[in-house]
Amino acid sequence: MHTPGEFFAAFEEAARDNPDAATQPDAVFKFVLTGENGGTWTLNLKRGASSPFVSTGDGPTEDASIHVSSDDWVALTTGEMNPMRAFMSGKVRVDGDLKLAVNLPNVVNMVEGYGIGTRGPISAAIARVRGALSAIRRERPSIDPMPPIVSRRLPWVGAGRALVRDPTEFFTNCRERLGDTFLVDAFGYRLFCLFSPVGVRNLWRLPEETASKALADLTLLSHKVPIELFEGRRTLPHDLFARDDVEVYLDHLHKAVEVELSALGESGSLELFAFTKRLAHRMGLASWGGMSAASDEQLDALAAHFEQLDASESFVHPHKALLAVGTRKRRERRAMHAIEAIFADMLRERPRSADVNDSDLFTRICASWDGVPSPAREVGIARDVIVVQMGSQSNLFAAMAWTLIFALRHPSIVEQILSEGDGVLDSFSHESIRMSQRSIVLRRVVSPVEVADENATYRVEPGTLIATMLSVTNQSAAKGLDQFDEKNYRGASFLRANDLPARELVTTYGHGKHTCPAHRFSTSAIRHSVGEIFRRYELSAEFDQPLPLRRQIGGVARADRPCTVRYVARRQRPPQRGGQR
Ligand code: HEM
Repeated sequence: MHTPGEFFAAFEEAARDNPDAATQPDAVFKFVLTGENGGTWTLNLKRGASSPFVSTGDGPTEDASIHVSSDDWVALTTGEMNPMRAFMSGKVRVDGDLKLAVNLPNVVNMVEGYGIGTRGPISAAIARVRGALSAIRRERPSIDPMPPIVSRRLPWVGAGRALVRDPTEFFTNCRERLGDTFLVDAFGYRLFCLFSPVGVRNLWRLPEETASKALADLTLLSHKVPIELFEGRRTLPHDLFARDDVEVYLDHLHKAVEVELSALGESGSLELFAFTKRLAHRMGLASWGGMSAASDEQLDALAAHFEQLDASESFVHPHKALLAVGTRKRRERRAMHAIEAIFADMLRERPRSADVNDSDLFTRICASWDGVPSPAREVGIARDVIVVQMGSQSNLFAAMAWTLIFALRHPSIVEQILSEGDGVLDSFSHESIRMSQRSIVLRRVVSPVEVADENATYRVEPGTLIATMLSVTNQSAAKGLDQFDEKNYRGASFLRANDLPARELVTTYGHGKHTCPAHRFSTSAIRHSVGEIFRRYELSAEFDQPLPLRRQIGGVARADRPCTVRYVARRQRPPQRGGQR
């Protein structure tokens, strides 16, 4: 059963994708919905309005207000109730300009999964096609002065096909042909790409208020993830990791690793990415979802639902984002609701659970929902956990897998772990991540902004995405950086910064304001899990030289082939030595 809140969240998403169609009515509508799940929403659909189009409660003065019960509104927007009959029978009351309200069916029909009107789903589909066509015709934001453009004849798709085939190669080729600053039009987006030292430095310094990372993320995630997931979050990764929390989560990380490794037995074989994916799910959930979520009883189901929802998958396999759009994110919504149901059950049991620890991160998430009545509290807690878990999904497991792969190629590091402790893994994991990073750094311009490279200062209009890609800069910024060298780092410090024309050209966890809030957590997680694997097992690789997946855009790379290893338990497990924290 849909709720009005879900409709208005989906409407915001559709309007953001196609503001021209959404603002056709050139009016402000207020909805006053009574009954369960009711409330007041204001839609600003004036020409020239921009996101957010929807505000909860009162917004700008309305041209018309629509009064209807929440249940009837749901029936109207899902096509179960005839709007004319509802109006005639008094179920819907319109105050203000009735002529304007006649536009509402067109506006509702542009929202995937909803359709108002007597003409049925076909006209709703036509309205959506019309909306898509107007998106194709929409003018792209301008840049002044205009840098060279990479585009293709195909409208909307632009250079998109070459870009997704191999983004690293695509940007490298563009740089060779056009220099370090250029524009790429792809899939309806305009990317202003910066690869020069001054350009990249200035990208990392852009203020969130004018060039937003949050909005860029949301733009991309909204193709795959139900947008209501991000509404009303109370605990974000920054809140969780802001304090010196190492002790709080380390215990949980250690327990999760213990359980997962105990299940491996004396010997066998495993595929590294599949193994680290499950391990990272367990470690993440143990750290911020409560130990029950990481228990054998819940882990399989939760991990399967998280995989269904996983936003990063759409960057690794772009066709999955298309599938999600085509199915109106039905599967993703189902997965989200399934996770919410599991958390509701666990929260009911929690007061009796022996695993409750007053200071752990999950307790903090729960505390932020104190006083909120059920079921909003349980849904809120589950969605807070989902957002943190999804943040970790794009990078952590792949970073663990590459650290294992590079360690298998450098037997001396395994010797060092056994003799000196797993502290040596901090430098080693940073170098492994540097070599396998595929993050595309994106900022969405929200108000006109100036960005300089070595040759010009560009005025960039709202709607543009300012971009660079770490797989290109990390390995081309100085001689020899295309090769793995564990001596490049001491701990988290990159030791060759002085060889770079700008230190921002190399990074694993980001620079400036948006640096990864989970940097310390991830370093601890990799150090402990990889260290423990080598302390317990002798590993032998049954693969040769895997490479990062060519088409991946975003996050640490998956490998281009299965990375299977055989493992045999060491007869004598060496003791844990210093450097574990
Ligand atoms: C090896 C593991 C990880 C790597 C290499 C990594 C890398 C990065 C990078 C490069 C950025 C900056 C992106 C940009 O500025 O555009 C970033 C930001 C972020 N990361 Fe991570 N990350 C890792 C693990 C995690 C985990 C485990 C979580 C969550 C639990 C997380 C949550 C976030 C969040 C929320 C941001 C955005 C920060 C902001 O916008 O201010 N990351 N990460």
